[in-house]
Amino acid sequence: MATVTVGAVRERAPGERRVALVPEAVTLLRRAGVDVLVETGAGSGAWFTDADYADAGATVVPPDELYARTDAVLCVAPPDPETAEALRPGQTLIGLLEPLRHPDLAAGLHRRGVRTVSLDLLPRTLSRAQSMDALTSQANVAGYKAALLAADTYDRFLPMLTTAAGTMRPAQVLVLGAGVAGLQAVATARRLGAVVTAYDVRPASRGEVESLGARFLDIQSPAEQEPDARRGGYARELTSEEQQAQRAALDAHIARSDIVITTAQVPGRKPPLLVTSAVLDRMHPGSVVVDLAASELGGNVEDSEPDKTDVLPNGVTLIGAGRLPSAMATAASTAYARNLVALLRHLVRDGALVLDPDDEITSALLGGEPS
Ligand code: NAI
Repeated sequence: MATVTVGAVRERAPGERRVALVPEAVTLLRRAGVDVLVETGAGSGAWFTDADYADAGATVVPPDELYARTDAVLCVAPPDPETAEALRPGQTLIGLLEPLRHPDLAAGLHRRGVRTVSLDLLPRTLSRAQSMDALTSQANVAGYKAALLAADTYDRFLPMLTTAAGTMRPAQVLVLGAGVAGLQAVATARRLGAVVTAYDVRPASRGEVESLGARFLDIQSPAEQEPDARRGGYARELTSEEQQAQRAALDAHIARSDIVITTAQVPGRKPPLLVTSAVLDRMHPGSVVVDLAASELGGNVEDSEPDKTDVLPNGVTLIGAGRLPSAMATAASTAYARNLVALLRHLVRDGALVLDPDDEITSALLGGEPS
């Protein structure tokens, strides 16, 4: 009987420690009748050895052999040009390919007959797609790590502590953007004992914030009147007047917070600017700002840069978060690999990888590739 063969490559982006498959996922795929190759050293950044993969039933091979023998190549981040070049016509590349950011990558592969399955394009509100939702699994890790990073940088306690030396007040944490990452940052800061307030333009997030024991910030928001369901649960981009009004309403709350964690994103757009340099100037020394939206396009905080920490002249620490999921590579890879197993169970039928354009999930993931 025919068998599908998939292969997990070693990630090549600088600083990327995640891996598309972990040994536990190899076992599950083998059980589902899928043959698995893993590139030599692919799991080392996430603390999985080649022997772990071999024990789980994978064949560990050099890259050339992996490209030559697989129906589908599995990755986390978009591949480097060399990897993309090595793919063969008829082969499928599966990963977080960021097609909105790198449209040329998919277009170039399609021209050469390589198919692309971009997990970023998953229809996330479909309940049967939830186990495949890699954006959610990775955002969860990022939100958790952002709260830990902030707590670690902050030079005081997060909880209220009553000790023989007196009582310490709890830290005031403000989370802007209460999507997947923001809610996990709220939950983590709460677990550490901080007093947490959160804000999002999507009205639906109020109940989620409150259910985590945090306060939802009541400011008048222009988008507040609109249902967000028709945008697949995402926020729309605010007009520049709306953004100005929002910042004016947020400024005083930001200025008096000890820790601010920003996570606001609008898919395919530049992240909205929520914290200006003028507000950073008003914050007190020792406070910490973590911008999870920091990117080459800019972030939620003026002048933040990914992977860059600055102590500003007034004693505020500004952390531009880079690849936070990669900083917790074992957890992030394990969750991502589970998403891939769910996806492959959906795509593999009777020993073949079936990319059915009439299937709602598959057609979205193919991202309008020319048929
Ligand atoms: P994201 O990473 O694109 O954005 C993060 C958050 O920033 C969002 O909650 C967004 O509303 C908020 N935001 C955007 N502009 C803002 C502004 N100017 N000010 C304040 N906040 C702003 O979103 P994420 O976390 O990937 O998902 C967002 C939503 O997508 C979820 O909360 C949910 O509604 C929907 N979703 C639904 C799923 C499901 O039904 N299973 C699974 C995952 C997401």
